[in-house]
Amino acid sequence: MVKGKSTQTPRKKATSKTRGKSRFAIAIMAAGKGTRLKSRHPKVLHQIGGKALLEHVIAAAAQVVSGDDIYCIVGHEAERVRQATAHTGVKYVLQPEQRGTGDAVNRARDVLSGYEHVLVLSGDVPLIRPETIERVRDFHIAHGADMTILTTTPPDPSGYGRVLRKSGKGSTDEVEGIVEQKAATPGQLRVREINSGIYAFRTAPLFEHIRRIKTDNPAREYYLTDMAGILGRAGKKVMALSTDRPTEVLGANRRSELAELDAAMRQHKCEELMDAGVTIYRPETCIVDAEVQVAADTILEPFVQLLGRTKIGSDCRVRSYSVIRDAEIGDNVEVRVGCVIQESKVENGALLGPYCHLRPGSEIGEGAHVGNFVETKKVRLGRGAKANHLTYLGDAEIGERTNIGAGTITCNYDGVHKHQTTIGKNAFVGSDATLVAPVTIGDGAYVGAGSCITENVPADALALGRSRQVTKPGWVKKKKTGVSG
Ligand code: UD1
Ligand code: MG
Repeated sequence: MVKGKSTQTPRKKATSKTRGKSRFAIAIMAAGKGTRLKSRHPKVLHQIGGKALLEHVIAAAAQVVSGDDIYCIVGHEAERVRQATAHTGVKYVLQPEQRGTGDAVNRARDVLSGYEHVLVLSGDVPLIRPETIERVRDFHIAHGADMTILTTTPPDPSGYGRVLRKSGKGSTDEVEGIVEQKAATPGQLRVREINSGIYAFRTAPLFEHIRRIKTDNPAREYYLTDMAGILGRAGKKVMALSTDRPTEVLGANRRSELAELDAAMRQHKCEELMDAGVTIYRPETCIVDAEVQVAADTILEPFVQLLGRTKIGSDCRVRSYSVIRDAEIGDNVEVRVGCVIQESKVENGALLGPYCHLRPGSEIGEGAHVGNFVETKKVRLGRGAKANHLTYLGDAEIGERTNIGAGTITCNYDGVHKHQTTIGKNAFVGSDATLVAPVTIGDGAYVGAGSCITENVPADALALGRSRQVTKPGWVKKKKTGVSG
């Protein structure tokens, strides 16, 4: 356990979310390396639904007890795990060497002993719902259990610990032991009920007997699962509570399981959105992160990605192959095929794409148009303004109803600094203009096509920054006959 800044002595007062005198802590085991993922990164920081596994578990735990009573047991790449979850306000306990789940919980002994009960969750079982954690807690209390194991019967139990229930003793909810896959006999492997890695313990018997866990198993690890047999033999009550939703307690040990969990989470997210009135034509092709919000009557076409904290209003249509991250989009917006939008804000009725790229800091006004192959960055495009074709607008402010012609470029970078371009309202910038920033173009001004604008243009003026055309009649013919013109 880390003494000092990362852990504190638990408060004696019961939190409002615990019931009666029972006081629950939640410990989340998150110290493992995740060898089976074959990754340089800690297992619990791998993501599903756009969020780290551990963040999902913490979010569920935080619905059941207060953040002050949640302890993450960290070890492998502890500092990274801590940094990635610091915003959640949980506490941390260090397991310096990853010697198994039994050792992990034992490392938290000092802090957990101050509680009457502890709910132990696995940092790699991310789909667990708060209501299920509460079910485990309530069942544990109602049965006066010393250990309660959340179990399930998945279609394929391989890889999981098997739960061996007591037989012939009346209560079939009592458990004799848990046997890990690697140590199980062929007969035990036929048991399909598995240990979810989620438990409730009364802390007194847990820490009285935890030292009895041995490493006499194929992995030479301290298995927390051995506590079922140990407590049973000590005359304590070990119970199983089964859930009929196996997906909720699937673990992410291998990449294929990670993909399965990610798909399950995203499918659930799409179903939630559809239930709330969003049309999604082929939900199985859409990637929608857990925190995304979409209002009713918006349509998502196949192969759309909505990521991060994206928020989309109502009656929008997001067409295929658009990728939108951390953006806020109003109502009645059409995002045509293939747009990439990031950290931007789009007002009601705007029309985007096909194939536009809104980079961070783009603010597209009401009813504005951003068309084919237009890139924007730190730009405010006023209400009803249009930039329909082949344009780069960076570090610019563009007024209402201004028209930006095809191929216009704001030359915002001089190789050292970025400079601002300001264009007033009702202005007209002709095609292929280069606007060398810093530069200001006044309200209602016109810029001739092909101009290179290096000086400010006053309101209502016409600016031409191009050389006059020279036309030489008959020049080609003369060149071809060798007569110089
Ligand atoms: C564990 C259970 C298994 C159960 C499965 C459910 C044990 C021995 N086995 O197996 O019965 O069916 O979960 O998903 O517990 N961890 C630490 N410190 C360590 C080792 C692991 O904190 O020293 C953490 C891991 O980061 C992980 C969790 O504990 O979040 C579970 O460890 P893992 O190695 O994934 O155990 P499983 O083999 O999945
Ligand atoms: Mg696991």
